[in-house]
Amino acid sequence: MPIATLRQVLGEAKRKKYAVGGFNANNMEQVQAIMLAAQKTKSPVILQATEGALKYTNFVYIKHLMLAALEENPALPIVLHLDHGESFETVKKAIGLGFSSVMIDASHKSFGRNVKLTKKVVGYAHRFGVSVEAELGTLGGIEEHVRGKVKLTDPKQAVEFVNRTGIDALAVAIGTSHGAYKFKRKPRLALGIVKEIAKGGSIPLVMHGSSSIPLKLRQQINRCGGRMPNAKGVPISSIRKAIKYGISKVNVDSDSRMVITATVRKVFKKYPGKFDPREYLGPAREEMAKLIASKMRAFGTAGRAKDYRVISLKEAKKRYY
Ligand code: G3H
Ligand code: 13P
Ligand code: ZN
Repeated sequence: MPIATLRQVLGEAKRKKYAVGGFNANNMEQVQAIMLAAQKTKSPVILQATEGALKYTNFVYIKHLMLAALEENPALPIVLHLDHGESFETVKKAIGLGFSSVMIDASHKSFGRNVKLTKKVVGYAHRFGVSVEAELGTLGGIEEHVRGKVKLTDPKQAVEFVNRTGIDALAVAIGTSHGAYKFKRKPRLALGIVKEIAKGGSIPLVMHGSSSIPLKLRQQINRCGGRMPNAKGVPISSIRKAIKYGISKVNVDSDSRMVITATVRKVFKKYPGKFDPREYLGPAREEMAKLIASKMRAFGTAGRAKDYRVISLKEAKKRYY
């Protein structure tokens, strides 16, 4: 199968009312864990790398790790996606590396500037058949929203944003935030926003900051010498509700970081003499694969890999013009 586009993979998900995880990777073990999970559950998958991941791997290493995932899994729809691209230059670089999808995140700029930069990225990316995700609103908890620090997505503005930019997927701010400390009190999401935008349009919606920060992993980290007090994430039940209302892509990074840390700490605590990286990164990879597989099942992605024929970037390009 050729490399898949976000537009096609999310179009399928939206039509059949499930979501595809956007899973972040920074190294070989994370790429392998995500792919092991996709193989096991027969899921389409979005492998994503941030600007930080590109820099950490000196660009070329993550490129080849992702290409290895494609080579090893010809039967799975795989999107290679730039997560939170901050500039036109980074987008160009990612497309040059072979990514089939990019996010331009100009959500911290004014509405006008966000439209302008996003439109420029769309104009460039679509010439290669590459899909574009963009964001409107800023992430953060509902409590902060009350204090005016974050801006949840305005559904009316969202329609205007999509029409003016021509994007393929829209990331919405509904009260989640990145990292392990998402909520001070009970988790609350503004799901009405998802419902309203989904009602009016055909654009697939994306939910960032969707790690669940499992209590079990937090306890394991704390028991084995770590310190993650009061970490709190988005319950799987809320994510499933969001998917029901119209979310088609669910971004997860922190949970993968946590499961790796929890496993490595556990191995070190139990076997202080171990010093071969394979003996702690191997188990970490295995545990991460199990965690991602459980998310693929919960998001409804499991078993969807054979639902459709992946179209090439060349074919995707024709659909824009
Ligand atoms: O939003 C995505 C990540 O969780 C942050 O990743 O540390 O690679 O920028 P980063
Ligand atoms: P988490 O920090 O909740 O994993 O969010 C990741 C994310 O949104 C990546 O874009
Ligand atoms: Zn994000």
